[in-house]
Amino acid sequence: MIVLFGNCELMLPNKIEQCRIDCNTSQLAFVKKHASDIGKEIGALYSILERIGKPNIIFDVMAGSGFSGKVFLDVFPKLKLILNDLDKKCFGVLKNNFPMCDVYNRKAEDIEISETPDLVFVDFNNFTLFRFKMGVWKLIMDRINSIHPKYYLFTDSSCYQEKFGKFDCVLYYEQLSEYLSKRYGLVIISVAMFGNAALVLTEYKIVSSITKVKSKPIHLRFRHFKGLF
Ligand SMILES: C[S@@+](CC[C@H](N)C(=O)[O-])C[C@H]1O[C@@H](n2cnc3c(N)ncnc32)[C@H](O)[C@@H]1O
Repeated sequence: MIVLFGNCELMLPNKIEQCRIDCNTSQLAFVKKHASDIGKEIGALYSILERIGKPNIIFDVMAGSGFSGKVFLDVFPKLKLILNDLDKKCFGVLKNNFPMCDVYNRKAEDIEISETPDLVFVDFNNFTLFRFKMGVWKLIMDRINSIHPKYYLFTDSSCYQEKFGKFDCVLYYEQLSEYLSKRYGLVIISVAMFGNAALVLTEYKIVSSITKVKSKPIHLRFRHFKGLF
């Protein structure tokens, strides 16, 4: 299968198993079912990247099947991109699609990299705020803090919360931002939102206000080819 969005093209396996999403589920398991959510996240990612200078190194800690990685290289073609995903299949997909990048297959909690990235991107699976509060992501946050990046970029799609009843997306992202700043001393620079997808860009620096960036969704197109992977 080939997935196209904007200027980017990703080659994914023809056969992709689907399953219920939990905090460790591989991106490949939900790529087709949640294509529109992924498209919204990609749109928000493009918008928020306009707000940072040109980074030399980006570390995509939970790189999944590489949608975010493709966006980073599309916006910053000279970038050194470091990718990691715990899932073996995602790792295979990343190795195939990013032959020029450093690709790791490690637990984000344990990973060590030798360089200091300008930006660390963490695309946690569902229920980000809920899981933060449960302490599920603490070890990963400790690990990232020890790397000392200038920017942290987090994302989450609130589609799951929406499914379970009344839910206000803006409120959710405000709460997520507030939690990140209170618990981790991170200061929110901006929030890019499209529908239920949003990205929160933070750094250790006092800035006076949250700026909401306008985003538009990017449409994924799937093409079927035989013999990939
Ligand atoms: C929401 S997806 C990331 C999607 C990615 N941004 C993309 O564009 O394809 C989250 C990914 O985190 C990975 N993951 C979950 N827990 C992890 C952990 N502890 N360490 C590293 N990766 C993990 C999953 O395998 C999944 O592919």
